[in-house]
Amino acid sequence: MFNKLLKRMADPALEDAAQGYEERLYEVAKEGVPAHIAIIMDGNGRWAKKRSLPRVAGHHEGMKTVRKITKLANHLGVEVLTLYAFSTENWKRPKMEVDFLMRLPEEFLSTFLPELIEENVRVEMIGYHHNLPSHTISAIRKAKEATKHNTGLVLNFALNYGSRSEIVDAVKDIAAQVAAGKLDLADITEDRISSGLMTNDLPEPDLLIRTSGEVRLSNFMLWQLAYTELWFTETLWPDFGEESLLEAVENYQKRNRRFGGLKGEEAN
Ligand code: FPP
Repeated sequence: MFNKLLKRMADPALEDAAQGYEERLYEVAKEGVPAHIAIIMDGNGRWAKKRSLPRVAGHHEGMKTVRKITKLANHLGVEVLTLYAFSTENWKRPKMEVDFLMRLPEEFLSTFLPELIEENVRVEMIGYHHNLPSHTISAIRKAKEATKHNTGLVLNFALNYGSRSEIVDAVKDIAAQVAAGKLDLADITEDRISSGLMTNDLPEPDLLIRTSGEVRLSNFMLWQLAYTELWFTETLWPDFGEESLLEAVENYQKRNRRFGGLKGEEAN
């Protein structure tokens, strides 16, 4: 990844500003980036309201932020970017807004899929397929298929996702296996529960970002976030630009992650 950044920095076709930006990315990347960043993209409605626009205009602008942040995360060498695009509770919103949100993955992918392929990004999704309109599922399915061999960033959309339901499902599956005599109580471990979650093939998030000043988890990856570093910013999601992500990553790099133990001199 450093080599890729170095190669781009040395590209004679790059203008000075672009070269400066690549250098900035290199400086951040060499300090170590989170392998998995999860984001609660909040504040689209307030962004729109401030401009006397309908709420959906904020969601549309938020989609453009998804593109910017995906590209940057990929360039930095982040392995997984999970974006909370629609929760199991978001169905309570007005039908018109829900319909609009359900169209966004399709619009995003029909516009940017070639770019994602070019950038070596792999599209994934966590969340319940039931209730999702067929056009939404089919856009995601097509993108997953077209990018399945890509080896860069995993762009993981959390769509119709709810953490408590996910945990309930994992527990039910375990209980059924115990009842059938296929699993002993002693086999119910943290790893067994993790492997029953939709994120079973992903590393746990290292950094969680929530935009818009709200300081809560809203039923997002409750199990997986046990040791995740949290970053809350007042910035509204449509305003969350490259510099905002770099600031969050730089702050993360200063954290002392102890996972409940001690680190460095304290441990001696
Ligand atoms: C919360 O903001 C945001 C959502 C429920 C939707 C997030 C979706 C996007 C950012 C676009 C996703 C793009 C793709 C490609 C799937 P809010 O509406 O609750 O904002 P508010 O709190 O200011 O009202």
